[in-house]
Amino acid sequence: MIVTFAHHKGGTGKTTSCLNIAGFWHECGKRVLVIDCDPQANATSGLGIDPCSDRLSIYDVFMSYAGDYPDVGLADIIEETKSGIFLAPSSLDLVGVEPYLYGINNRAAILKDAIAELGDAYDCILIDTPPSMGQFVLNGLVAADQVVVTFDSGIFALKGAEALSAIMDDVETYVGEKVVADVAILTRWGSASATPVSDEGFGARLKQLFFGTPDSGDKDVETKRLTAFENDVKKSFKMVYTVPFDTNVQKAQVDGLPLSQFAPECEAARVYREIAEKLNSQ
Ligand SMILES: Nc1ncnc2c1ncn2[C@@H]1O[C@H](COP(=O)(O)OP(=O)(O)O)[C@@H](O)[C@H]1O
Ligand SMILES: [Mg+2]
Repeated sequence: MIVTFAHHKGGTGKTTSCLNIAGFWHECGKRVLVIDCDPQANATSGLGIDPCSDRLSIYDVFMSYAGDYPDVGLADIIEETKSGIFLAPSSLDLVGVEPYLYGINNRAAILKDAIAELGDAYDCILIDTPPSMGQFVLNGLVAADQVVVTFDSGIFALKGAEALSAIMDDVETYVGEKVVADVAILTRWGSASATPVSDEGFGARLKQLFFGTPDSGDKDVETKRLTAFENDVKKSFKMVYTVPFDTNVQKAQVDGLPLSQFAPECEAARVYREIAEKLNSQ
């Protein structure tokens, strides 16, 4: 199964969800590959690999489709990380690739094609994408059997989902690939750091964003808003999971390990285990 994590906003939990679902799939004995398609390379560093080193990366794979460049396939760049999860690492250079891709006809299917060359070497492939609507997200969507959309509790997250749904329609229209996005993950839900937002309309929200709200500790308003948001998400996705704020998440990433190995019994691990099992049984 090939799963892509997407949302054009940053900080919604794409990388965290990708790495931790990968961790639980690895735990049940699967050969798991994470493909990092984000120039920020957080999935790469989250698995303990330095994205600044001069190793071959997904940059070289994309560039080898762009004319006069040495032929580098995914198999040439994949390495096993200390967790046992395999990684196709990213690097900061990846930002420079996009202009080269515009000259290629089937540029949205580069990743799909590169994955096909791997044959059945991996049981599960997870693709992490950047917070943008560019070629890397498009490649991730085209390659995927299933797309997982992640949300944080900020007020503009659902707006991002509308844009994502438009790009999925475009993929169907122009590339002829149906995009299946059944799963939504709500990240850091109920976090104390989430900004409480007034439900008195857009003007009031803007005012609150720019000037803050003196009584922003109003818990009822915040709980109501989160519930309404959750209900909206449930209308659009077959499966919706809520991952609580958990300090182990960041600590595990700094340590280069998924929660399945770093803190398998913590709250966030419990939800990611459940998501991994559910996706696995599809
Ligand atoms: N459940 C969680 N609890 C605490 N921190 C989290 C949780 N999920 C994500 N984070 C943190 O939030 C930040 C953004 O998450 P990340 O997965 O990198 O988002 P994205 O890949 O969408 O940009 C990271 O620093 C990550 O460690
Ligand atoms: Mg990320």
